[in-house]
Amino acid sequence: MHDENEEQQTTVMLHEMGGQKVSNSLYAPRVVTIGSGSLQKIGEYVVALHAKHVFVIAGSLLSNETISSTFQRSIEQHGLDATYFTHTKGEPTTEHLQAVLMKIKECGADCIVAIGGGSVMDLAKAASVFAVNEQMSLDAIPNENCLRRLSFIAIPTTAGTGSEATKITVIKDVKTGVKKNPGHHTLIPDVAILDPELTISLPQSITAYTGMDALAHAMEAYVSTKATPCSDFYALESMRLIAASLPLAYQNGNDIKAREQMLLGSYYAGIAFSNASTNLAHAAGRPLGAHYNMPHGLCVALLLPFVVEYGLHVCEERYATVAGVLYPNNSLKPSYSNAVAAKKVMIFIEQCNDTFGILQAGWEYLNKGQAFEDIVPTLVKDAMAGNGIRSNQIVPTEEDVEEIYKKLWSKITQP
Ligand SMILES: NC(=O)c1ccc[n+]([C@@H]2O[C@H](COP(=O)([O-])OP(=O)(O)OC[C@H]3O[C@@H](n4cnc5c(N)ncnc54)[C@H](O)[C@@H]3O)[C@@H](O)[C@H]2O)c1
Ligand SMILES: [Zn+2]
Repeated sequence: MHDENEEQQTTVMLHEMGGQKVSNSLYAPRVVTIGSGSLQKIGEYVVALHAKHVFVIAGSLLSNETISSTFQRSIEQHGLDATYFTHTKGEPTTEHLQAVLMKIKECGADCIVAIGGGSVMDLAKAASVFAVNEQMSLDAIPNENCLRRLSFIAIPTTAGTGSEATKITVIKDVKTGVKKNPGHHTLIPDVAILDPELTISLPQSITAYTGMDALAHAMEAYVSTKATPCSDFYALESMRLIAASLPLAYQNGNDIKAREQMLLGSYYAGIAFSNASTNLAHAAGRPLGAHYNMPHGLCVALLLPFVVEYGLHVCEERYATVAGVLYPNNSLKPSYSNAVAAKKVMIFIEQCNDTFGILQAGWEYLNKGQAFEDIVPTLVKDAMAGNGIRSNQIVPTEEDVEEIYKKLWSKITQP
């Protein structure tokens, strides 16, 4: 059982910045392990957490014989009991959570292991809390002083949400149709296992959506008003890794080095945004995902160029630094002003979106169901109520957010 006394505070510092004292704490998983074959360490980590019975929530990947036998062998070799639960129903909802909680109660597991994309990890993360807090609501999580949960190990199979490093769980409330994303440091997994073999089977489109999501996490964290020197460090390194490896992983899914770099980049991005927050691209992206049942990474990739354009003039220096890591080997001319270099960030994102067919994919979702123009007021209302509005470099008005959705629609319909 994890408790607050074991807070995963890897560094705590107080920095003097511009004459102002800034608390600079960084929260991250206690252990991360990376590399091909690292899945086989699962038993070792469960034992280290003093657990005896694992409840494994998995996406489709455990139906792969090689992967499931590696996993099960490690569990058995360490004398552990395991109960398996498959979740392939997409992004998690409060209904999915109830189903998982019933199964956990039945088997009496003392540790949760998630092996899947952000959907599976978030479902498992929420389950680790509600398994020992039956009466609690999602909304109450951030206000808990001393949150308890079962031990929790996260093994991502997308690269990705970074959920294996974050204090967030995203669960759609079936009653309201709103995607809730409560945060608490105790939600950060105890252990993250990053095994690139598990991401080889990702189809090209999901490699692209999830990779762009990770890039957006790092970029939004870097220009966030909550950014700190520690989160900046992870954000910049994440963007450097993703810019270099996402095109390679997209072109050749079997490129294990690129897959590993994407997992690391996505993990670093998770640390960055979990400590510094995502911002407007995520606040505006969540309602798109909820209303159109559209993959999270695709929503964020579609909105990111417009959000960067909107905030560029207030943080040109930061975006110029971002451009420096996106374009390697000094391919940016040193003579560029910050304003010119900053615009290259938008160009980079637009080029990625072109290469990955993001606009076409977006059109296929947004062109279905209720007309986009009619749903914009609801999207704006939900975006303004979500996390990441107040920590945006410019706190947007409803009109600003409406304008961003309209620009997106116009770009999609007249590319
Ligand atoms: N907790 C956080 O910090 C955080 C951050 C960002 C996003 N999210 C949330 O995570 C969810 C999205 O997660 P995601 O983008 O990882 O997608 P996902 O988990 O929904 O997976 C997308 C699809 O890919 C499949 N898949 C996953 N791994 C695969 C593999 N290795 N091979 C083949 N197919 C595979 C899944 O079965 C699914 O069909 C959303 O609900 C989003 O809001 C959470
Ligand atoms: Zn995201």
